[in-house]
Amino acid sequence: MNQALQRIDELSMGFQMSAPLFAGARLGVFQALGGETLSSDELAKRLNASPRGIRALCDALTALDLLEKDGGSYRNSDIALRTLLEDAPDSRLALVMHGAMLYDRWASLADAAVRGGSVLDGEPGSGANRDEEAFAKAMADIGRMSAEEVAEKIGLAGVRRMIDVGGGPGVYAIAFARREPSLHAVVFDSPGTLEVARRNIAAAGLEDRVSTQPGDALNDEFGSGYDLIFLSNFVHMFSAEQNAAIIARCARALNIGGRVCVKDFAIDESRTAPLRSALFTINMLVNTQGGDCYTCGEIVAWFEAAGLAFDSETPVCGNSMLVFGKKA
Ligand SMILES: C[S@@+](CC[C@H](N)C(=O)[O-])C[C@H]1O[C@@H](n2cnc3c(N)ncnc32)[C@H](O)[C@@H]1O
Repeated sequence: MNQALQRIDELSMGFQMSAPLFAGARLGVFQALGGETLSSDELAKRLNASPRGIRALCDALTALDLLEKDGGSYRNSDIALRTLLEDAPDSRLALVMHGAMLYDRWASLADAAVRGGSVLDGEPGSGANRDEEAFAKAMADIGRMSAEEVAEKIGLAGVRRMIDVGGGPGVYAIAFARREPSLHAVVFDSPGTLEVARRNIAAAGLEDRVSTQPGDALNDEFGSGYDLIFLSNFVHMFSAEQNAAIIARCARALNIGGRVCVKDFAIDESRTAPLRSALFTINMLVNTQGGDCYTCGEIVAWFEAAGLAFDSETPVCGNSMLVFGKKA
């Protein structure tokens, strides 16, 4: 097959790799198998599903290395045992369930492209219809992969008070407080999301230094007296105008000499690379009315409009960047 045909084939069939994983996670196939070996009939009974359906699904999951098949019976592969059980050490189940939710929403891409924004009810990142708990748990799965590196690169020496705006499950605030013993952090988010954050803060034993503040970043002030304001994977949910207003609110809340740090997916001036960021732009098109991936230059323009000076930019976690502004 020539290269052009091969590329089209790969792209048009790519979804078939994800669909069995999402169905398996949604139906609870991996959880139901646990450490056991079960026939497709036994598994179908446990899952209250059709034996034919479960056999087809499990055969595909076997071909994808997520199950192993022995005669007519299936067991979790090492990959599934490590990543797809709720209490597995490297569990990514919440993130996979998040992917399953996005998979449905991405089906509306052509309509969203015509409209120029989401055609669906509710946004996974905000709004009344989302499952805040599931969303926050997925964010925690992602955050745990990067929090240590961000804590190291952000520069916490001398930071006494910080606020994590849209801080979700609190994973970053917890990592920062662990690294800097004199740091007091506030996690600012919606009340439902902060329930997850409070559980994580309690589990980390940091209730004395990490607190929560419910609020709406589009309308509420953040308080005052902060040395650092952190916005991680937050500005991509909003339009440029909304972000300019959020950064202006950050500028008002900072101490003189304090810094704002925007962490988000890096995208170059062409807006076509890296691939993950270009695809993330699609995620914002189908899920939000104004969200986007923003270039470092666009973020710096919000800083300058708010009276902050551009401080520095640092690559982080593979495809993200930390962009710092400072209040003189
Ligand atoms: C993509 S998540 C990022 C969470 C976290 N900062 C991280 O990097 O893992 C965006 C967060 O912003 C919160 N959020 C969305 N709209 C908000 C608003 N208007 N005010 C405050 N928080 C908001 C969501 O609840 C969610 O926790």
